[in-house]
Amino acid sequence: MPLNIIIGSQWGDEGKGRITDLLAAEADVVARFSGGDNAGHTVTIGEEVFKLHLIPSGIIHEGVSCLIGNGVVLNPAVLLREMDMLAERGVNVSPQRLKISHKAHLITPAHIALDEARELDRGGGAIGTTKRGIGPAYTDKTCRAGLRAGLFTDPEALSKNIHAHIETHNRTLTKIYGVDPLNPREVAAEYADYARRLVPYLADCDLLVDDALQEGRTVLAEGAQGTLLDIDHGTYPFVTSSSPTAGGALTGLGVGPKHVARILGVAKVFTTRVGSGPFPTELQGEQATRLRGSGENPWDEYGTTTGRPRRVGWLDLVILHHARRINSLMELVMTKLDILSGLEDIPVCTAYELDGKQIQYIPADLQTLARCRPVYEILPGWEQDIMNVRQLSRLPLNARRYVDFIADQTGVPVSYVSVGPGRDQSIVIQ
Ligand code: IMP
Repeated sequence: MPLNIIIGSQWGDEGKGRITDLLAAEADVVARFSGGDNAGHTVTIGEEVFKLHLIPSGIIHEGVSCLIGNGVVLNPAVLLREMDMLAERGVNVSPQRLKISHKAHLITPAHIALDEARELDRGGGAIGTTKRGIGPAYTDKTCRAGLRAGLFTDPEALSKNIHAHIETHNRTLTKIYGVDPLNPREVAAEYADYARRLVPYLADCDLLVDDALQEGRTVLAEGAQGTLLDIDHGTYPFVTSSSPTAGGALTGLGVGPKHVARILGVAKVFTTRVGSGPFPTELQGEQATRLRGSGENPWDEYGTTTGRPRRVGWLDLVILHHARRINSLMELVMTKLDILSGLEDIPVCTAYELDGKQIQYIPADLQTLARCRPVYEILPGWEQDIMNVRQLSRLPLNARRYVDFIADQTGVPVSYVSVGPGRDQSIVIQ
């Protein structure tokens, strides 16, 4: 009765969709547990590229059921668009396969308007959110003013609650931020339409997860974002508003820790982040462009959700130590090793220098973190193209040493390495 958890170990965009897709082949249920359509997961199958924001990547596998758990904030318009896109491409997205928790909270146009208005108001201190209404939806949830997906089953209550919700937020939008109010009647009508389509998908997802685990089926919890975007353990306030960490997988699905069999931390072999906030190993100029790519390929470092160029830097093992601790990582999945091919030297940050001392943790306060300087160990690179390699023993020696170095330094075994964007471009390490 295993529960396997996939977690982003950096600032998101680590390539979790890929590994989820790989592990989904052996899973019965794949579940999203946190975040919303701020996430962007790309799965490449042959020539086909699927970009998903809300629906678990497991949907691409025929025999797998997919759940959107209680920890998720759900924009029904985005969900329906994604369902239609998948259906058009021949993927079965029937209510038998896809379930939405009654307890998941709805994102509304008021949340999106507030997200935009607050970001504008923050000026130079903006977080760089995806402007998908994520923060305001979680704010409403936490202050017990949220709208849960279960409301879809009661048209009268839905209409009443949407009216009250829009009217309340209109006061903030107009009086504090000076932006146009939303029309409660229009929003209520829009959500009544969504309800008609989505009611068949609603379920008690925590019961479904429990049933699956009791029956010995494998449940895969698909993480979104990453450990450093966690509301508690990330680089606050430059974080998202949920818990994309292993603890969040449990509360976001309604399951206890005794079922957990594997906790996999996904990390790129370099580091990226979107939006503002500290980034000790960040690079600029030519080196940054080399790691980021030109933007011509879907796997280049441009946001799946916003299209923004990602900030890039060398691998930071202090971050991986942090992710190991916060999530109790049992395995590492290192992605994009192929991108490093052709580099003569590869710097890896093994510690931070803070006031003349070396530390291997991320200081909680950002002013202290800003004073940290990365300490690099330079590893030798390799020339060969490795995109066709499928066995660890076939990697160039220096590429193997790079992977071994990560495992040795973090104390976490590396169980998968990806060497290209394709579904089969992975090395499984036993
Ligand atoms: P929000 O989640 O839209 O509120 O954005 C808060 C911060 O998290 C911003 O810096 C976003 O760029 C970042 N963020 C949110 N989702 C993702 C993701 O899936 N990948 C990378 N960064 C993300």
